Amino acid sequence: MNTPVDPTTTEAWADLQTLKDALVPDLRGWFEADPHRAEELTFDLADLRVDLSKNLINEDVVAALLRLADQVGLPGRREAMFSGERINTTENRAVLHTALRLPSDAELVVDGQDVVADVHAVQDKMFAFAEKVRSGEWKGVTGKPISTVVNIGIGGSDLGPVMVYEALLPYKQDGLTCRFVSNIDPSDVAEKVADLDPTTTLFIVASKTFTTLETLTNARIARDWLLNALVESGAIEDTDEARKAAIAKHFVAVSTALDKVADFGIDPDNAFGFWDWVGGRYSVDSAVGLPVVIAIGPDGFRDFLSGFHAVDEHFRTVAPEGNVPLLMGMLNIWYVNFWNAHSHAVLPYAQYLHRFPAYLQQLTMESNGKSVRWDGSKVTTDTGEIYWGEPGTNGQHAFYQLIHQGTRLIPADFIGVVNPAHPIKDGDTDVHGLFMANFFAQTAALAFGKTADEVRAEGTDEAIVPARVFAGNKPTTSILAPVLSPSVVGQLIALYEHITFVEGIVWGLDSFDQWGVELGKKLALEIAPAVFGDAEALAKQDPSTQSLVSWYLEKRD
Ligand code: F6P
Repeated sequence: MNTPVDPTTTEAWADLQTLKDALVPDLRGWFEADPHRAEELTFDLADLRVDLSKNLINEDVVAALLRLADQVGLPGRREAMFSGERINTTENRAVLHTALRLPSDAELVVDGQDVVADVHAVQDKMFAFAEKVRSGEWKGVTGKPISTVVNIGIGGSDLGPVMVYEALLPYKQDGLTCRFVSNIDPSDVAEKVADLDPTTTLFIVASKTFTTLETLTNARIARDWLLNALVESGAIEDTDEARKAAIAKHFVAVSTALDKVADFGIDPDNAFGFWDWVGGRYSVDSAVGLPVVIAIGPDGFRDFLSGFHAVDEHFRTVAPEGNVPLLMGMLNIWYVNFWNAHSHAVLPYAQYLHRFPAYLQQLTMESNGKSVRWDGSKVTTDTGEIYWGEPGTNGQHAFYQLIHQGTRLIPADFIGVVNPAHPIKDGDTDVHGLFMANFFAQTAALAFGKTADEVRAEGTDEAIVPARVFAGNKPTTSILAPVLSPSVVGQLIALYEHITFVEGIVWGLDSFDQWGVELGKKLALEIAPAVFGDAEALAKQDPSTQSLVSWYLEKRD
């Protein structure tokens, strides 16, 4: 196993520190001094226009960031990922989500296995199944077509599909809807099935491992709900055979563990596989995207995949100076490691992207929330960013105050779309234009602020001038897309996947494992007997946990 380069020992790191120490942020002055700043720092990435000019950077900083990427060996690690080397060291796995979007005539053989052929075989199976559901050829046990698909999964088996489904609602087939059950809080599944007709409902049980407590519990509850409702209504007979036939028509699975799928009672013919080299949070473009394929159809999904692939090609081949994921990843390093930024806001000015920040939380924080490097040694600097956000303009009326006038530096990515799905007017006013005016206004206000003299010039009482000053120099990146198409959604996801990769490489992390989620899962199983009233199990818990569980038991009806 090769040892990660300690970024703090590189020349570029020292240069960046010197640059940071000397840099006095002055976005107003920088734009005035260089009329080409916006042009020089704006890039095209597939269909996306990405403006980095409102960041706290200059030519020297960008050059030093790119030298740092080079000095930590980023180009070699990137090639190692794309070619299927086992860069997920702690799980000894290749990391090949990029193979999921390779066209069928591409070539990628890993360990003697034709990965492209495998990927396309599953895609073909998914597409054929989705067509059957969409056309009504796939029928429930009583002969009715499917109208609701319920995806049961959590983490990567939920956040990707639900985010993309919501983002692409305008592309959804009429008469078909998807719902998503993830939480083991029984209210989730109860609410989601409450008004459903079991005869027209299809469940997709999505779990990479097919061992996840939440998903298997919810899948069993859904199975019981379906069978009980069908038997009680007289739709099927009260026999094991009739139940089996109903499950075959109303349950399919997505997993890498097809043996476990069969144990659950789902026909392996109705199971869609993927591979251990697809991380859960990198899996929406695998069979995990099945609800999306059913909703938007195979052509829409192909378009979605082509968006990912375009960004993969860009990341792999474009020179560093114009390589957007590389630049954005290195900008994040600049803010985290040199400006002590702790969090990163993602602010979609597109209501359809309302789950994008939640999706990015898993992608970025499960990937890079780590304190040891890929060889087991301790990290040498801060790692990880807290990703958060809400769609604009809702966020403007909630937390933007802190971004504008708080004491913390919060780099923010604004994501907007040029052509809305609903070009509605309010009288003569183009409402989407008004919406986007807010996007442009916010990024300008954050960058350029408002001086005390400008506030005074408005006749403001001197006593409240300080409260009305905006310091400016709050960094933002603006990302615009012509339209929120399937391809654009794929492009956005791939962009952030590669940003996450870049940061992970600089920090020396294995961005593809997630051991930090294991301890809590194990303890939950150990504590469960105490919650169910086992006094011995309760006595083994720490005093705080004992007291909490006792109060819970006391109050439980
Ligand atoms: O607990 C974390 C995690 O392992 C995620 O990485 C993953 O996306 C999620 O659980 C769900 O896992 P699975 O798809 O195996 O059910």
